[in-house]
Amino acid sequence: DWTMEDFSENAIASIRQRVGSAKVIGAVSGGVDSTVAAVLTSRAIGNQFEAVLVDNGLLRKDEASQVIHRLRDTCGVQLRYVDAASRFLQLLQGVVDPEEKRKVIGKTFVEVFEKEAKSSDASFLLQGTLYPDVIESSSHLGPSVTIKTHHNVGGLPEKMNLKLLEPLRDLFKDEVRELGTLLGIPEESIYRHPFPGPGLAIRIIGQVDEQRLEILRHADSIYIEELKRANLYRCISQAFAVLLPVKAVGVMGDSRSYEDVIALRAVETVDYMTARWYSIPSSVLERVSSRIVNEVNGVNRVVYDITSKPPATIEWE
Ligand code: XMP
Repeated sequence: DWTMEDFSENAIASIRQRVGSAKVIGAVSGGVDSTVAAVLTSRAIGNQFEAVLVDNGLLRKDEASQVIHRLRDTCGVQLRYVDAASRFLQLLQGVVDPEEKRKVIGKTFVEVFEKEAKSSDASFLLQGTLYPDVIESSSHLGPSVTIKTHHNVGGLPEKMNLKLLEPLRDLFKDEVRELGTLLGIPEESIYRHPFPGPGLAIRIIGQVDEQRLEILRHADSIYIEELKRANLYRCISQAFAVLLPVKAVGVMGDSRSYEDVIALRAVETVDYMTARWYSIPSSVLERVSSRIVNEVNGVNRVVYDITSKPPATIEWE
């Protein structure tokens, strides 16, 4: 029988022993896995570890600055911030196909990260791989059908010539949360809903641009704020807003409006392979809807997604 204290001490000792005086680099997203891996490694080897946050311009409202603050100031992790937003947005111009979006974003991420890794003279790459990721990627159950290409599974290319450091590979998600809490990581990171690597690009159906990102960021932040206020955030596995590529007619005072539509998604799931749509109380939905149409310029209609997975996926793209 082991405790999380034992695990933490052993993990820190084994990182120290394996790394010696070498340097370690690792990408962080602000999610629980990469954050716990980063904090654990920084406890083990201090500034021999450098975390890299690649800002692809597709993050949620204030997300980059919150992640920077949390990691640097609260958790004492050495962090390099790379603002690559304009590069990503430029490459996404004219791209509307979901898989094409993933491809462009994944490829660009690798290019940006590779350059940072080279300039750091690191010999180890830290990854927040968990036990279920290990199982899933070694599964031999039936033919593998690609529904969506997930770029955060499988990691960065071998040609980077870095040795892999995966201190969480024996843990399940709830154990990672326990370890994170033990390490003093703030709750916002520990219980953050999963966020896809391609970010808001796959929640803006159709063309992605700065203006549509702004609309979605604002609507999504209102939605999440109201879920937290109603104490629902922790009951829901994943919730987010989606910006649709259709316009709807509405009335605004005496005149007609013709504006964007926001869809709200909320699901309950254990493994994200199947999921049930979550029934948010109508009083909360009503507050979210009226705040979005009143506060977000260019949106006059809000709809609620009542589809489970399967047949729908959790994301719309
Ligand atoms: P779906 O939409 O396939 O999503 O039901 C299942 C879970 O995976 C996340 N997701 C992704 N994560 N890159 C990621 O890192 C991706 O391209 C991607 N697509 C979906 C989704 O948010 C959900 O948690």
